[in-house]
Amino acid sequence: MGFSSETPVGSEVKVVIEHAPVKITTLVDGVEAVVFNANGAFEFERRKTKSEEDAPPPEPSPETFNSHTDSRPNGPMALSFDITFPDASHAYGLPERATTMSLRETKAADGAIATEPYRLYNLDVFEYEHDSPFGLYGSIPMLLGHSSRPPRVHGVYFNNPTELYVDVTKGGSSGGISSHWMAESGAFDLFIFPGPSPRETMRQYSMITGGTAMPPAFALGYHQCRWNYRDEADVAAVDAGFDEHDIPYDVLWLDIEHTDGKRYMTWDGATFPTPRRMIEDVASRGRKMVTIVDPHVKKDANYPVYKEAESKGLFVKQKDGVGDFDGWCWPGSSAYLDVTSPAVRAWWADKFSLKNYQGSTKDLYIWNDMNEPSVFNGPEITMQKDLIHHGNVEHREVHNAFGMYYHAATAAGIEKRNDGERPFVLSRAFFAGTQRVGPIWTGDNAADWNHLRVSLPMVLTLGATGLAFSGADVGGFFGNPDGELMTRWYQTGIYYPFFRGHAHLDTKRREPWLFGEPYTALIRAAIRRRYQLMPYLYTLFEEAHRDGAPVMRPLWYEFPNDPHAAAKEDAFMLGPALLVHPVTTQGASSVEVYLPAGVWYDYDTNEMHAGPKTFSVAVTLADTPTFVRGGHVIVRKDRARRSTRAMTHDPFTIVVAPDESGKYAYGEVYLDDGKSYAFEEKDAFSRRQIIFEDGDSLVCAAKWRGGSWGWTTHDAEQKHLEGDPLAFPEIAAEVERVIVLGPRRFGEDAEVRNKRKEIHLVSASGKEGSPAAATAVKKPGVVLAQDWSILFSVAD
Ligand code: NOJ
Repeated sequence: MGFSSETPVGSEVKVVIEHAPVKITTLVDGVEAVVFNANGAFEFERRKTKSEEDAPPPEPSPETFNSHTDSRPNGPMALSFDITFPDASHAYGLPERATTMSLRETKAADGAIATEPYRLYNLDVFEYEHDSPFGLYGSIPMLLGHSSRPPRVHGVYFNNPTELYVDVTKGGSSGGISSHWMAESGAFDLFIFPGPSPRETMRQYSMITGGTAMPPAFALGYHQCRWNYRDEADVAAVDAGFDEHDIPYDVLWLDIEHTDGKRYMTWDGATFPTPRRMIEDVASRGRKMVTIVDPHVKKDANYPVYKEAESKGLFVKQKDGVGDFDGWCWPGSSAYLDVTSPAVRAWWADKFSLKNYQGSTKDLYIWNDMNEPSVFNGPEITMQKDLIHHGNVEHREVHNAFGMYYHAATAAGIEKRNDGERPFVLSRAFFAGTQRVGPIWTGDNAADWNHLRVSLPMVLTLGATGLAFSGADVGGFFGNPDGELMTRWYQTGIYYPFFRGHAHLDTKRREPWLFGEPYTALIRAAIRRRYQLMPYLYTLFEEAHRDGAPVMRPLWYEFPNDPHAAAKEDAFMLGPALLVHPVTTQGASSVEVYLPAGVWYDYDTNEMHAGPKTFSVAVTLADTPTFVRGGHVIVRKDRARRSTRAMTHDPFTIVVAPDESGKYAYGEVYLDDGKSYAFEEKDAFSRRQIIFEDGDSLVCAAKWRGGSWGWTTHDAEQKHLEGDPLAFPEIAAEVERVIVLGPRRFGEDAEVRNKRKEIHLVSASGKEGSPAAATAVKKPGVVLAQDWSILFSVAD
C-alpha cells in the first residue's frame, strides 16, 4: 500500500494504523478522509508455504462459462477489502461503463442488493446499451469520493489488472460512501490519494500512474473515419470534400478493409495499390492518415508477421504452456502476440519501421482496436483465463492490462519510426497508465440521442480517472443519424478531447457535407470552433501531461464546493475557463443551464450572467450554450484554415473575461513545436501568463512551472532570429486582437509596451453600456511569446 508523498500546501495529512483488526485511517486536516477496512472486509487467499507446496496440490476447481471451462490450476486466489470515504456524498470513477458519472449504489447499507457490483473486466461488448452499469472495453480501478461541504475529493487506486468487482454503498454505519473491492487474483497494491482538492488528487494519482502523453498537435484536430473508405479514389474524394466545403480536418482513417485479408500492415492490392502515393498526397496538404492494426494475427504461413512470430515463439500459449493459442477474429483463425513480454513488445515496435511496414510513410499513424483482447469464439468474447503468458503467468493475472501493453508497443514503434517524435496511436482497451501512451475512444456506440447524452459522463469519468485524451464516435457507430442528431453530435464532439467521426460498415455515408443545409453549415461552424480553441486546448493538454488534470472536466472539478455541480453531467468545463451545456435532446428549443458562482459571459453574444443560477436558454439548431468564466483569459486562433498545420503561423486572439470586480482575469498559454520532445529535453517551449489587473492593464510574461521556465523571451527571439531549428513558428506569431469582455468602457487610446509603440483602441463589438459589450484592441503589434503589456485608458 502506498501513499503519495505530495501533500497540498496548507493541508495536514496524517495516517493512523491500527492492528487486529487492521484499520488504516487517512486524516486530512484532522478529518477522516479515507478509511481502509472500516467494514472488516479485508480477506485474501493465503500464499502457500513450501511444505504446503510439497503436499498434494489443492483440488483444482474448474469453472465453466458457456462451453468454456476455466481449469483454475492454482485454485482460488481471490482477495477483497473495503474502502470508506466517511465524508463523501458522491463517488466517481471505475470506468468504463455507459452510465452516470456519480456512481449509483450497488448495495444498500442494510445489504440489500440494488444492482450487480461494478465489474472491471475488459470486454468487447457488442451493441452496448446506454445507461447500463455493465463494464466495457477498458478498466481503471480508481475511485474518488467527493463531499461539497467542506469541499474535498479523495481517491484510491487499486493496482491490480485481474477481474475486479466493486460494490458501492452510500450512508452505511461509517457514513459517507463505502466500497467493497473483490479481485479474482493478483497482489494487494493499493494507493490512497488524500487530495483534498480535485486538482491535488489528480496530481497525486498521476505521480503514480503517469500524466497524459503530450500529443502531436495534429491529434487535437478533427479525425474523419469510417469502416471503410473503399479505395484510394474514395480517400482522395473525401480529402477534397473537406476543402471544397471549407471544413477543417487533420486525419483520414482506414479501417480493416484496406488490408489484404485482415493481415495488418498489408494493403488490399485491388483497392489500395499505391498506398505510399495516397498518404503522400494527403500529407501534401498538411494532413495525416491512420490505419488500423489489431492484435490478432492471421494464421497464414505466407504472412511474414505470423511466420516470424510463430517461429520465434512470440504468441500467447494454450493452457499447457506449449502450443500457440488459436482464437477466431476478423481474419479467421488467429494467434495473439504475447505483448506482456518486453521482448515481444520490442519486436512488435520494429514492425512499424518504414522498411517493415511496406507502403507506410512517416505521416501514417495507427489505430489499435479489439485489444481487450477480442476473441470471437472465446468466453465472453475474450481469452480463456488459463492461457499462458511470458513468465508462465496465467491470462487472468494480466487480462485488464493486455490492451495497454499492445497499445504501448505500437506507440513505441511509431515513435521509433519517426526518430523519436511524439507518436499517435488510438486504442479501444485501456488500463490505468494508458494515458502515458495515447488516446482511447468509447467504442461501438449508436446513432441515437441517448448515446450522445451518455458520452458526456463516459468521457468525464475517464478524465477524472487520469485518462484525459478520449472521445466517443461522433454520429454514433451503429445506425444512421439524421441531420439534427449529426449536427448536435458535432457541436458536442468538438469538446471531446479526442474528436473523431466514425461509422459502421453498413451505415449510410455521412461526411459532413452530405447532410445538406442548414446542417453542413452548422457542422462547419462547430468544427471551426474546435480549431479556434486550439491554443487553449493545447495548453490544457500540456497541463494534463504535467499535472494529470482532465481536459474536459466535470463541473465538480472546478467547483468542488458546489453541491449542485457534484452530479452534473449534462454540462462540463473545458479546462478552467469554459462551461459548455450541449444540446443532447431532439427538437430542443431551450435547455436548462446551471452556472456556478461567479460571472459568466455567453461565448456567442458576450452577454453577462451572474451565477449561481439555473435558467432556461432558448436554442436554435445553431446554438450550444457556452460560457466564458469570469476571471479567466482564453487564447484562440480565429482564422479558418484547412488543418492544424495550416494554422501554425496564424496570429492569436486573446479573450479577457474579467471577474466580479471587473478588474481581474488570468490565463495561460503553452506553445511548443507540436511534434517533438524538445519541450522536455531542451526546454524548447514557451509558457506565458496573461494577467488583466487593476481593470486597466494586460500583462503577458513568461511563467515558471513544473521546474522549468522554457525559453525566456530573449532565447526565443534569438533562436528565431538565428533560424535555430528548434525555434518553432508560433514563437513568432503575433497577437491580432485582444477582446475584453464586460461593460467596462475604455478610452480611445491604449499604450502598448513592448517595442514602446503607441497604438489606438478600436471598435467595441457590443453596444456601449449594454451587458453584451466588449472592447476590442486590433493589431496591438505584440508577439505572444514575448513580454508585453497593454495599458488601457479608462473612460468611466
Ligand atoms: C470494432 C471497432 O470498435 C469499430 O470502431 C471498428 O470499425 C470495427 N471494429 C472494425 O474494425
